[in-house]
Amino acid sequence: MSSATTAFGPGKVILLGEHGVVYGHPALAGPISRGVLASGTPASACRLALPPKVTPAVGAQLTRAFDRVAKLAGRPKIEVSLETDLPTSMGLGSSGAMAVAVARLLLQARGTVVKQRELEALALEMEKEFHGTPSGVDHTTSARNELVLFQRGRATVLKSSKPLKVLIALAGARGSTKATVAELRARQARWPTRYRRIFNEIGAVVRDGASAVRAGDLEALGDAMNVNQGLLSALRLSSAPIDAMVHRLRAAGALGAKLTGAGGDGGAVIGLFPEPEPTVVRLRKEGITCFTSQLSGPRAL
Ligand code: PMV
Repeated sequence: MSSATTAFGPGKVILLGEHGVVYGHPALAGPISRGVLASGTPASACRLALPPKVTPAVGAQLTRAFDRVAKLAGRPKIEVSLETDLPTSMGLGSSGAMAVAVARLLLQARGTVVKQRELEALALEMEKEFHGTPSGVDHTTSARNELVLFQRGRATVLKSSKPLKVLIALAGARGSTKATVAELRARQARWPTRYRRIFNEIGAVVRDGASAVRAGDLEALGDAMNVNQGLLSALRLSSAPIDAMVHRLRAAGALGAKLTGAGGDGGAVIGLFPEPEPTVVRLRKEGITCFTSQLSGPRAL
């Protein structure tokens, strides 16, 4: 390799189906415009330049995750550095995006065509270091860079005839996905019959939502999102900051609004809008951190 190369991994939003996806139900997820950029420069060995300001614990975890992937990619002699414009630990798939950016860069450095399957397998290795037993929806959506219906490790690309635009707003702070998933697992192990009913219903709502996307029916998709938020709330995955933002987005005209990702004490909330841009301008003036992204469908030239 003669000079610097780069690879990008987009973040993601889960439109429908988080948590149910861990139990084998489907989820509908799409890539967003923000993500992680990995850059490589020639070096004497394969290594990761740790981003400034990371704590020793996070640094050690990043290094372990990097080493797992580097080994599988044949340790190309590059130093990898990372840049991101994605809020971390908010439900937007920052670790999956990083895993895809790093895996893609290391595979590119071998000088052969990057195979999708290998890219996803390597990225999953890195994700395991952060999430324990991830469903795989985050890194798969990032690697495909398309709206996907994901279930048990398999992703089907879904095309929307209408532009599918979301407003993404940050509400409060949250804990790790690993902890939230583990707490939910404990509750469902204690009351399996009741929790199974709710997971089944989440699965049904995801399938309804996928049909709505195929039919170009944004109102039906929005309603599925609203019902999904109610089910997540029943699972105790919502909280006051999330609920307040959900209601704010609905009051601003969202066809549907819900938390996205693991949820908990806070995190990212998404609203489905035919035209989210004016609302972003207004909410920013009110001090809310938010941005828009188009997940699928035709784009204006
Ligand atoms: O909050 P995030 O971006 O880590 O999303 C996690 C999605 C879950 O369904 C909660 C977990 C998983 O492994 O699918």
